[in-house]
Amino acid sequence: MDTVVSTVEELRALQLDRLRWSLAHAYENVPHYRKAFDDAGVHPDDLRELSDLARFPFTAKADLRDNYPFGMFAVPREQVVRVHASSGTTGRPTVVGYTKDDIDTWADVMARSIESAGGRPGDVLHVVYGYGLFTGGLGAHYGAERLGCTVVPISGGMTERQVQLIVDFRPRVIMVTPSYFLAILDEMEAQGIDPKDTSLEIGIFGAEPWTEAMREEVQRRSNIRAVDIYGLSEVMGPGVSQESGETQDGLHIWEDHFYPEVVDPITGEVLPDGEEGELVFTSLTKQAMPVVRYRTRDLTTLLPGTAHPQFRRMAKITGRTDDMMIVRGVNVFPSQVEEHLLTIEGLTPHYLCVLTRPGRMDELTVQVEAASASSTPEQRAGMARDLAARIKHRIGVTVRVEVLDPHSLERSLGKAKRISDQRHLR
Ligand code: DLL
Repeated sequence: MDTVVSTVEELRALQLDRLRWSLAHAYENVPHYRKAFDDAGVHPDDLRELSDLARFPFTAKADLRDNYPFGMFAVPREQVVRVHASSGTTGRPTVVGYTKDDIDTWADVMARSIESAGGRPGDVLHVVYGYGLFTGGLGAHYGAERLGCTVVPISGGMTERQVQLIVDFRPRVIMVTPSYFLAILDEMEAQGIDPKDTSLEIGIFGAEPWTEAMREEVQRRSNIRAVDIYGLSEVMGPGVSQESGETQDGLHIWEDHFYPEVVDPITGEVLPDGEEGELVFTSLTKQAMPVVRYRTRDLTTLLPGTAHPQFRRMAKITGRTDDMMIVRGVNVFPSQVEEHLLTIEGLTPHYLCVLTRPGRMDELTVQVEAASASSTPEQRAGMARDLAARIKHRIGVTVRVEVLDPHSLERSLGKAKRISDQRHLR
């Protein structure tokens, strides 16, 4: 691997050097950071050790929106060789920019990620992440080329053709959102192809939360080793952290480029490693758009390194602070629902959490597809009862469960939509 450090001590020294540079770079070149640091009464010179970072102000998505489109850039626009943008649900998109060196760093960390997943130079690698303003496709693509793979840049959609090219080109590695991969598996089975007979050995799944139960489902139905990849546009794109294909035990954060903290989502206080909270990143090497203490809204825990001992791991993302449903006072995340529905025989991982407010209280209905169109109403009622009982017992919340026909929920080609908030409807 192309890492410059092999021990934790070396890493901490490198991080301190790079963090000093990054804070000064942001302060000197981005008016937003100069004002935010001044308002908080801190200066980049105040960073003497890594823990001093806690004195610096957070950055939120709203700060990026307020500086739309290019106000967060720390270099002249002419040095920005690429932009990406995420549309978000409302209003202006969030724009991010990269210099030539940034694109190079990104390709390096992505190549490192694919290699850690088990990919090797010479592998045929099928990229289903969307190409375009979304960072998934191009991010994966440059990394796979950097590693020396034969890249198939198919992007998302046209599921029949995905299957045809998998059969014809014989990729060893596929990079795709886990929810769309399930649609590809369904399509293979519909065409009479056993996914176990394909050439695929490694699936690099990310861009949305997925659970251990989903991993088991994928690994049961195919001969794929399913590993997790994480990233976000504001910090770089895919390849901020990666799960090792050997240990499959959470994602190693490429800490020589991205400095993680986990904070209490309400107070903002930094939590010790091992405690769950909101993940926050500070970029250490980014030129075009440095980020300082960026609040990801993703919930996780920092853990010690294993396969790459110098880098800490993050546990699988358990939810987002803004995806939290509060149902009769109980906090529920879609990932918790997913974990349980996959334990009930006859149900599939295609599901949607529907929130309504018929009276004064929020109600949660879990819509989930049956595996078989021929299951009887009695069988479906039984599955619904089992799932509701399990959720009540394990999560402590009363939900309604509707078992639907196969293929009745909309399939997404990219990130799956897991919550439908209908509380404003009467
Ligand atoms: O989703 C980058 C990406 C592309 C990552 C391809 C992995 C693979 P954004 O569109 O900016 O970037 O969305 C970032 O997606 O804050 C998380 O909430 C979620 N997310 C990304 N990867 C994971 C994952 C890309 N492995 C947002 N597990 C993040 C859970 C994930 N959530």
